[in-house]
Amino acid sequence: MSADEIKKELASILRAVRIRIEIEKGFGIDTITVSRPNKLNVQRSSNLLAEKQSMKTPDIDGRKRQTEGTNKRSSKDATKPLSDQTSVTEKGEGVQMLETLRNEMLVCHKCSLGKARTNLVFGVGNPRATLMFVGEAPGRDEDLQGEPFVGRAGQLLTKIIEAIGLKRNDVYIANVLKCRPPGNRAPLPEEIVLCMPYLLKQIEIIQPKVLCALGTFAAQTLLSTKAPVGTLRGRFHDYKGIPIMVTFHPAYLLRNPNDKAKVWEDMKKVRDLLSELSGKDLKI
Ligand code: URA
Repeated sequence: MSADEIKKELASILRAVRIRIEIEKGFGIDTITVSRPNKLNVQRSSNLLAEKQSMKTPDIDGRKRQTEGTNKRSSKDATKPLSDQTSVTEKGEGVQMLETLRNEMLVCHKCSLGKARTNLVFGVGNPRATLMFVGEAPGRDEDLQGEPFVGRAGQLLTKIIEAIGLKRNDVYIANVLKCRPPGNRAPLPEEIVLCMPYLLKQIEIIQPKVLCALGTFAAQTLLSTKAPVGTLRGRFHDYKGIPIMVTFHPAYLLRNPNDKAKVWEDMKKVRDLLSELSGKDLKI
């Protein structure tokens, strides 16, 4: 190799490393693990460590923005029909079926949560998404806006989605419960049992290539297990023939930012599997 070729090669490696650092920074990873040939793992804090984690500011601002923005839309079940939502990128049969399901759920009072909600939080995104995320239950912001993951945890989820080269509108996002439990308490087993058929129907309509369960409730519900998320995460399981990655819930990550690196590892596996399945390289 000539000196010029070596220079070019090094420049291209540097470019790739820079892009990767940018992505990891965007995701909130501020530490890079460097493997050495002598098998010593050196934990190096990059310059990014000194900076504020880039997702902190949007989280806080995002919450403020949403609170301001929601006042106009907080009347009971006042969200637009699914087909009018800008986040639904593709029309067709899937939309029709989701719309029918949504209408069914609008009049659902199988449990007491239906009476207390401001809005039904049905789900949002591409009805033909290849990747579908499943969370736990709507919180206050979601109840006010009628859309899943729009609060602080939602801001983080959006960053996670973008970190694997997708946009929020590319994927589909739903929860185990469609109505907010009062005071953001954990879903009760009977609420999960009553609401679960709606989630299963959503998955059946969307037919994602890959599922991602965010946190304990989604993982345990879809995998019919009582195993804790810590032991389930990091690998693909099977949900009726669909590979399902289990990872930590974004709200957990807000309280335990050190575990963001684990979620990044999980999401890289999701990204790689999606690339493999679609034959389309989602990597940078
Ligand atoms: N947490 C969830 O599990 N779902 C939401 O929609 C918001 C927060």
